[in-house]
Amino acid sequence: MCGIVGYIGKNKIKEVLLEGLGELEYRGYDSAGIAILQEDNFSIFKAVGKLENLRNKTKDFHPEGFSIGIGHTRWATHGKPTELNAHPHVGENSYVVHNGIIENYQELKQRLQAEGFNFLSQTDTEVIVHLFESHLKALKEPLKAFRATLDELEGAYAVLLITKSAPDTIFFAKHGSPMLIGIGGDEKHFASSDTPLIGLCTDVIYLHDGENGYLSADAVELFNESYEKIDPVLKPLPSSKLSAQKDGFRFFMEKEIYEQSQVITDTLMGRLGEAEINFEELDSELFVGINEIKLCACGTSYHSALAASYLFERYSKIRCSVEIASEFRYKQPLMTQDTLFVVISQSGETADTLETLKMAKKAGLKSLVICNVDNSSMVREADASILTRAGIEKGVASTKAFATQMVVFWMLSLYLAKQRASMTSVEIAEHISLLREVPSTVVVKDELHEKLRRLSKRYLHGHGFFFIGRDVFYPLALEGALKLKEISYLHAEGYPSGEMKHGPIALADPELFTIALMPTNLLYEKTKSNVEELSARDSTICAISAREFDKADDFIQIQERSHYMHEFFEMMVVLQILSLEISVRLGNDVDMPRNLAKSVTVE
Ligand code: G6P
Repeated sequence: MCGIVGYIGKNKIKEVLLEGLGELEYRGYDSAGIAILQEDNFSIFKAVGKLENLRNKTKDFHPEGFSIGIGHTRWATHGKPTELNAHPHVGENSYVVHNGIIENYQELKQRLQAEGFNFLSQTDTEVIVHLFESHLKALKEPLKAFRATLDELEGAYAVLLITKSAPDTIFFAKHGSPMLIGIGGDEKHFASSDTPLIGLCTDVIYLHDGENGYLSADAVELFNESYEKIDPVLKPLPSSKLSAQKDGFRFFMEKEIYEQSQVITDTLMGRLGEAEINFEELDSELFVGINEIKLCACGTSYHSALAASYLFERYSKIRCSVEIASEFRYKQPLMTQDTLFVVISQSGETADTLETLKMAKKAGLKSLVICNVDNSSMVREADASILTRAGIEKGVASTKAFATQMVVFWMLSLYLAKQRASMTSVEIAEHISLLREVPSTVVVKDELHEKLRRLSKRYLHGHGFFFIGRDVFYPLALEGALKLKEISYLHAEGYPSGEMKHGPIALADPELFTIALMPTNLLYEKTKSNVEELSARDSTICAISAREFDKADDFIQIQERSHYMHEFFEMMVVLQILSLEISVRLGNDVDMPRNLAKSVTVE
């Protein structure tokens, strides 16, 4: 977690750093800070809370001429969100910013304290700067001291360090957390992702784990883990930032919900044949010798994986299991080489998911990532990748990324069905026609949005929500509940409809809200009986269905459709907007809900 920026150049350094942090605020926003070094003078600003507070603190600060600087937006891991714990962290003559976790910081801290270093914060990061200064005293040269520091760090990090002992230089290292270098004319930048660099840089260098080095006004020096010099590989950076703006919507989440029709069209583009799915990026060899698919992910991506497991078994007739990445890492899992290991991630950076991918690779499994960010760590790590093409997703509560993941999974289940001859060409062609209609199922109609806005006022209290559904509507229920808790802070659970009577029904009373997903094309009568059981026990029922349901206290009607997957996508939009409107009424920050971060690069 956390976002890092760095800059070397002659232009408005303060603005460059603050704007860069603004683009990375989704990675954490409980405090932020910048440190700028001009000749022999450091200027340092830190503020708790959103970046706006840092902007206010720096409004009378106008550095001019050549300078170097680093900045950080924090998502707290060690130590509370206070100014002292905010980065950059200071030594005697140096500052550091860090994303990741230094696992051996306690022992390093004890040693440095014994050497006489004074610690100001509770963070793991602060050891880096003192360690550097301790080595600098002994070794005299900053590059040697920086390397000696890296040699002692255990854990995950992306680090930038500036020091008066090398006043035109930024030292950097990447080990497990994302970071890249941007080049724009004679200016040089660092950032945790490429978004802050769009418009400022023409080329970027994606750093790999173990790489380190330094940048100065006229040098880019890159080294591998053994400190052997390597040639940087420059890649061109796209120039449009337009897609990252709000486009007149109140929130990024809202804009992203409305964008779903367009991005799903992009996801489908070039991939739908007459009676087959084309994934140009896949080598058909990938599936040779494969008898099982194992899907592994976190959060929303885990929910799409769970839904996908129904499609793979139903259509591709292949055994499919689903794992939560943070659980999988430590369960000493059985990994056999006839399993294709598939990770799903919007960001491609989630630490737990990335680690499972590395584990699977180490065990000799073939791997595939379904991801929204090209060049992300997972895309670079996996044998093969399918990009979801959702565009930059900024709302912390994931919407369009989920939608496009589901579309990719549906396509992939058909791609495999063809390879395994588990469906006829006619059946596959029918599904392809259905896929072509998905963009129209997620178009948000004004009347629907208005209805959900009005309805939302009835759901601001109560002792909890149960979102229930069967089959793929069970993972959708989980996702609906996750959306609601993420942005409303109300307690919500997703549950399989048929399982309610085995415990949760004990909670039923008028203050228990049941959001019932009742598709007409899949197990309607079974779901209906489950909802009736809850209604009979006085739970307040909000039913979502194409068919009128007389036991519902509130009823949200979707269109009559011919296939359950179309109902799935339409209900998905209903759940997203319902959560959004409840959150708005509660006065919450929809795009940056408390305690959450968009990209979780710590375990
Ligand atoms: C964080 C985000 C979630 C997301 C999860 C997995 O917790 O807040 O919205 O679903 O990480 O992220 P990924 O990028 O791997 O899909």
